[in-house]
Amino acid sequence: MIGRLNHIAIVVPDLEAAANQYRTVLGASVTEPENLPEHGVTVVFVELPNTKVELLHPFGDRSPIEAFLDNNASGGMHHVCYEVDDIIVARDKLKSEGARVLGDGEPKIGAHGKPVLFLHPKDFCGTLVELEQA
Ligand code: CO
Repeated sequence: MIGRLNHIAIVVPDLEAAANQYRTVLGASVTEPENLPEHGVTVVFVELPNTKVELLHPFGDRSPIEAFLDNNASGGMHHVCYEVDDIIVARDKLKSEGARVLGDGEPKIGAHGKPVLFLHPKDFCGTLVELEQA
């Protein structure tokens, strides 16, 4: 059911430092920071030939990733995002298999302007999984 790995997301304590590290030390193509107030994050995309890395930093004072940073002061891997063809079909199949969909279970528009859902990390090897309709 899942298709391509769309991105891996890493929460970072210093977005500029992280973006510079990917740009200069690792030699990657890195976008300018973008604030996403509805998601409570500022995001930078590292564009790799086969996928992307999202560098995430809290935006505003009710960011959903603030607690993650409190628990992981130097940052850390936050989620993986897999593409699906139809997010509603994927959601209903996963729910029928016992997987827990976070929030109200309805897709939201994600960082790339496409519908996304998140699946409970306890159901997927301790890893938060994002599904994005490709
Ligand atoms: Co993501």
